[in-house]
Amino acid sequence: MKGEITVVKAIPERTLNDGLTLPAIGFGTYLLNGASGINTIVSAIDNGYRLLDSAFNYENEGALGEAIRRSSVPREELRITSKLPGRHHQYDEALYTIQESLFRAGLDYYDLYLIHWPNPSKDLYVEAWKALVDAQKWGLIRSIGVCNFLPEHLERIMDATGVTPSVNQVELHPYFSQEKQRAFDSEHGILTESWSPLGRASKLLKDASIQKIADAHGKSIPQIILRWHVQLGALPLPKSSTPKRQLENLSVFDFELSSEEMQQIGQLSRPDGRTYDQDPARYEEF
Ligand SMILES: NC(=O)c1ccc[n+]([C@@H]2O[C@H](COP(=O)([O-])OP(=O)(O)OC[C@H]3O[C@@H](n4cnc5c(N)ncnc54)[C@H](OP(=O)(O)O)[C@@H]3O)[C@@H](O)[C@H]2O)c1
Repeated sequence: MKGEITVVKAIPERTLNDGLTLPAIGFGTYLLNGASGINTIVSAIDNGYRLLDSAFNYENEGALGEAIRRSSVPREELRITSKLPGRHHQYDEALYTIQESLFRAGLDYYDLYLIHWPNPSKDLYVEAWKALVDAQKWGLIRSIGVCNFLPEHLERIMDATGVTPSVNQVELHPYFSQEKQRAFDSEHGILTESWSPLGRASKLLKDASIQKIADAHGKSIPQIILRWHVQLGALPLPKSSTPKRQLENLSVFDFELSSEEMQQIGQLSRPDGRTYDQDPARYEEF
């Protein structure tokens, strides 16, 4: 049956440039808030997710921390991510915010902490990066990275500090495949994570050409898309509030797309394929 969940095979691991390992797929938590958010995140952990992606601005670090405490999985087996908001890029504020993120979650450390947006018009992201570098030295964060950084932003922080981010989390799905950004990241040993990997359940999930590939494999469209991310070398972070879909989305390690199928999906990408108009050269979030 299409989209059927067989056994979720062991999830392969990715190793970051600083040695930290992450599972090859993670769980997005945007819009998972309050008591129902806690239940959804506990269900994701029970279903096998070990990498959980949050942010200071999602207002759910507390719910995430509570879900971690309620789950039966030891803390050290989980990989917890949060992100520094754009309004706190100034060095001291960034350090206070990282500590506040920890207090909110009730955690001693984050596995991964990312600058959420570069906000180039404010020109403070180098300062923010220096704060992350120091927070890592002090043991508040195991691995440090960025989101939505273009090559010029990455070059600046690497030149200023000599420290290469472990991760660059960017919008990535078949309608916006980020070929150039992925190549830049990979050349510099930076792992690309995919946000909105399912295009936020937009028309992408009804795409006729992906449906054909799904039919050929007896899989669902979301499973084909997530498998495409994995084979590209990107790390997808699908969000679902539905336990059945959480499992469906994890069940992508028991089949393989051919190079022709990978190419067919890659050809769906368009320069204006972003789900919303969030080009980090212009779009800013605080
Ligand atoms: N760094 C950044 O700037 C940034 C920006 C955006 C997002 N993110 C991160 O990336 C994560 C994922 O992105 P996203 O939440 O925007 O979008 P997404 O994961 O691409 O899509 C989520 C939507 O897809 C639906 N869905 C999930 N699995 C499905 C399935 N198997 N079949 C049908 N529908 C399915 C979900 O519905 P249900 O929940 O109802 O199942 C939800 O409406 C976020 O949660 C967040 O952690 C980061």
